[in-house]
Amino acid sequence: MNSYRHAFHAGNFADVFKHVLLIQLIDALQRKDKPFRVFDTHAGAGRYDLHSAPALKNREYQGGIGRLWDRQDLGPELSAYQAQVRALNPDGTLRWYPGSPRLIRNRLRPVDRLTLTERHPSDYPVLKAEFTGDRQVVAHHADGYASLKALLPPPERRGLVFIDPAFELRDEFDRLTEAVQTIHRRWATGMVAIWYPILDREPSLRFQQHLQELAIPTMLCAELGLYPYDRPTGLHGCGMIIINPPWMLDEKLDRVLPELLAALQTGESGQTRLEWLPAAPLGNCVEAR
Ligand SMILES: C[S@@+](CC[C@H](N)C(=O)[O-])C[C@H]1O[C@@H](n2cnc3c(N)ncnc32)[C@H](O)[C@@H]1O
Repeated sequence: MNSYRHAFHAGNFADVFKHVLLIQLIDALQRKDKPFRVFDTHAGAGRYDLHSAPALKNREYQGGIGRLWDRQDLGPELSAYQAQVRALNPDGTLRWYPGSPRLIRNRLRPVDRLTLTERHPSDYPVLKAEFTGDRQVVAHHADGYASLKALLPPPERRGLVFIDPAFELRDEFDRLTEAVQTIHRRWATGMVAIWYPILDREPSLRFQQHLQELAIPTMLCAELGLYPYDRPTGLHGCGMIIINPPWMLDEKLDRVLPELLAALQTGESGQTRLEWLPAAPLGNCVEAR
């Protein structure tokens, strides 16, 4: 526990995928005037220095934001993401990378609020400092899963729970399934977005089946695979489950996922997947395309 530090991975292809989608989810919440609340349960440090020793160790960001940073031909969703990273680097040199808390915060209106939880003893103070004096953001040094029980439902009644775990624990998918049950019981109309890695294919498929067995009505699965899933080691791809997704998100992602793949792939055959996961006792997975 606590050995994972996101600073080593900030801005990599998985971050690009999750942050492009996250921005779309927040922007969809803005379409209605009523205030919304976002919970970021595994918040990380808030922003990352890509010139720091951890980021430079494997330079993962070069295969992620590094591939999009200079592009001038991106579609609207990737451009919106690129603009957020550029805004943090006004001198035109890529150095600072916004974590999910910073990305979300930048898109809140004055009536909206953000609640962050981060458990790591070193990342939490950095996160807290990032939002010192910001009355719309509260950061807790706590377990993100446990905090859901205390914090849901929010008074706003509209919003998003974004869950982006470190996957250090063998039972992370089980904890996620439990978290979804908790959220659904307390806040059935809330949007939920869960990021997961694709290392071995099997665990994430089993996770999806377990979610389907919870009989939650509207669940969308989006995946980006950069490397063949039968490669013996490494992060081959990643995905996001979105519960109660905004209207037309599927159509948008149908365009965005291939664009992401084209921008990020390294020559090996990649794949994307976009699929509704119907509530079903036996599950219903999977077709790569
Ligand atoms: C993948 S990183 C988060 C990155 C961040 N969401 C972003 O997009 O910039 C996962 C974070 O979760 C933290 N973490 C791990 N287990 C946790 C838990 N049970 N509750 C809260 N935070 C946890 C880790 O310390 C790490 O900072």
